[in-house]
Amino acid sequence: MYRLSDERINLLEVQSETLRPVSLKKRAGLVGRLVHLLRICCDLQYASVRADVVRFAGAFRGVVLDVGCGGMPFRDCLPLDCTYIGLDSSESAQKFGYGSEEVTLFEGGMFPQKDESVDNVLMTEVLEHIEDPSATIGQCHRVLRCGGQLVMTVPFAARWHFVPFDYWRYTPSGLCLLFNKNEWADVAVYARGGEATVISYKVATYLFTLILGSDTPIRRVLKCAAGVLSLPILSMCLLLGHLSLANSNRVVFDSLGYTLVARKR
Ligand SMILES: C[S@@+](CC[C@H](N)C(=O)[O-])C[C@H]1O[C@@H](n2cnc3c(N)ncnc32)[C@H](O)[C@@H]1O
Repeated sequence: MYRLSDERINLLEVQSETLRPVSLKKRAGLVGRLVHLLRICCDLQYASVRADVVRFAGAFRGVVLDVGCGGMPFRDCLPLDCTYIGLDSSESAQKFGYGSEEVTLFEGGMFPQKDESVDNVLMTEVLEHIEDPSATIGQCHRVLRCGGQLVMTVPFAARWHFVPFDYWRYTPSGLCLLFNKNEWADVAVYARGGEATVISYKVATYLFTLILGSDTPIRRVLKCAAGVLSLPILSMCLLLGHLSLANSNRVVFDSLGYTLVARKR
């Protein structure tokens, strides 16, 4: 008979993770470009968010507010002539390891921008880290000009990450509830990948954790050997993941995450 182990770990006692997300700060130069290309190949979440930022925010105009910008990894996807403002929480460096002098920091709560002062809002992979998501969406609405567009991405089939500061996963129905139809128009939610992408991503992430995750020195060597032997499987998963991402224009019930586009009424 199936029996769960007597010794279970209370996850609320966990305050760190085996493999923290690698910082998404982009580096300059040829090495920086190669590292970035490698990241796009190996990180399906990053590749899928980037593709959607190019697609939906690539034609942004005027003032663009990047809420929870972190290392500003998608700034280069925006047109050169727009005025970019990176906004982040003052706890960003301490909780998430980000920090840059170019970023405007605020204490959480009210954004420092004036009402209706920005033309577009970009918010990538932030809402799952916010304790009160409705309040943040309200702030995005307040600072946007009427008719201004918001492009936002959230993860769905992603690991629990930046532990313990990862609070929520959203479904398309949940996102619809958050975006009140009296305040937002043309709300659309698009899936990033489907079931095959999720399977590829999960297997690849597990193998990456084996290869890169640290433990006791002996377990690290054993895990590393197992990981290296798994390289062909890893390559197949990444290939399948990218192919399925490229072919994701169908109804899916599982996804790496969602991209929401909305316009302020
Ligand atoms: C996973 S990182 C995403 C960073 C970046 N947008 C990206 O796509 O790489 C989550 C970001 O949300 C920010 N954040 C957390 N709470 C926030 C809040 N209340 N308001 C704005 N940003 C917040 C964190 O500081 C962090 O930079």
